[in-house]
Amino acid sequence: MKPLAAILGTGHYVPSRVMTNADLEKIVETSDEWIRSRTGIRERRIAAADEHVSDMATYAGKAALESAGIQASELDLIILATLTPDYTWPAAACLVQRKLGAFRASAFDISAACSGFVYGISLAQAMVAAGTAKNILVIGAEKLSAVVDWKDRNTCVLFGDGAGAVVVGPNQGRGAILSTHLGTDGTAVELLYQPGGGTVCPVSPESLAERKHFLHMNGKEVYKFAVKVMGEAAELAMAKAGLKSEDISLFIPHQANIRIIEAAAKRLELPMEKVFINLDKYGNTSAASVGIALDEAQAAGRLKRGDKTVLVAFGAGLTWASAVIEW
Ligand code: UT7
Repeated sequence: MKPLAAILGTGHYVPSRVMTNADLEKIVETSDEWIRSRTGIRERRIAAADEHVSDMATYAGKAALESAGIQASELDLIILATLTPDYTWPAAACLVQRKLGAFRASAFDISAACSGFVYGISLAQAMVAAGTAKNILVIGAEKLSAVVDWKDRNTCVLFGDGAGAVVVGPNQGRGAILSTHLGTDGTAVELLYQPGGGTVCPVSPESLAERKHFLHMNGKEVYKFAVKVMGEAAELAMAKAGLKSEDISLFIPHQANIRIIEAAAKRLELPMEKVFINLDKYGNTSAASVGIALDEAQAAGRLKRGDKTVLVAFGAGLTWASAVIEW
């Protein structure tokens, strides 16, 4: 059966301020050598104090709309994946609706951490295929610089800010979403989370003193999970689409750590020339990561007509998600 939904356009935005590994050496006990060899990251972008997730999401969303040739007024729905919304509630997607002037669209956020953007694509694909909505803007946007603990060298060197977006709509022969796969393992929530600020531990002088309002991570355990799940999730989406590794022209993984990406590529028997990497420039931008990479891959001419691409993400929850697209 012909796939009913497709990616009609892509866009991204990153803040102009660059923070290099050398800059981080002045903040915490670390080195450019350690960060590069353990993660592959050289620099990341940091949003200005008055530059919020809804702003970055709006810029990326506008770029995706332009690339799709669709007006904001034609949108039926805005899905924003983020773990750093402007406010705890309401959804930052409502602010994006206002900033885009997309007043026909309903809007909500989804919380699936780094997997959120690919979760959003899967949801949008199902809604377009069901006829519930025609044009859906899916955005992943993060201001992680606001939630990382700048005193914790284990985490602060890894993350960055930015936004990536796609428009999902009816398949007219390009960008068809061939398959998606979603997964969750709720037994390991505490491996990567923000313990304070929710209803379990509301903000208080004590929670602030204990630095609970920052991101907490067990890096080693998340690493092991990521290496296992990235390849598995890609294989499951490829199998649903009836494809094998050799059919894939480009693998666009969540940009968390070059060693995780290399391990996944090895499992999939994909040479690194078929893997899109930009984490050296941006670090881990969580829900924004795959969207930024997808738009940069498009701009670099790496998505040729007929090419099949696998998108794969993993993150807190624990969650994972994959999608196969035919360009
Ligand atoms: O979107 C999902 C988000 N999370 C991830 O993808 C994270 C997955 N995990 C990882 O990428 C890796 O586990 C890290 C990059 C976080 C850490 O790499 P590692 O090779 O697992 O290092 P480690 O945690 O085993 O730390 C090795 C050493 C430790 O020192 P000791 O205890 O051996 O003396 C750390 O204290 O490196 C030390 N270390 C650092 N040294 C310099 C940790 N962070 C730093 C740092 N600079 N920034």
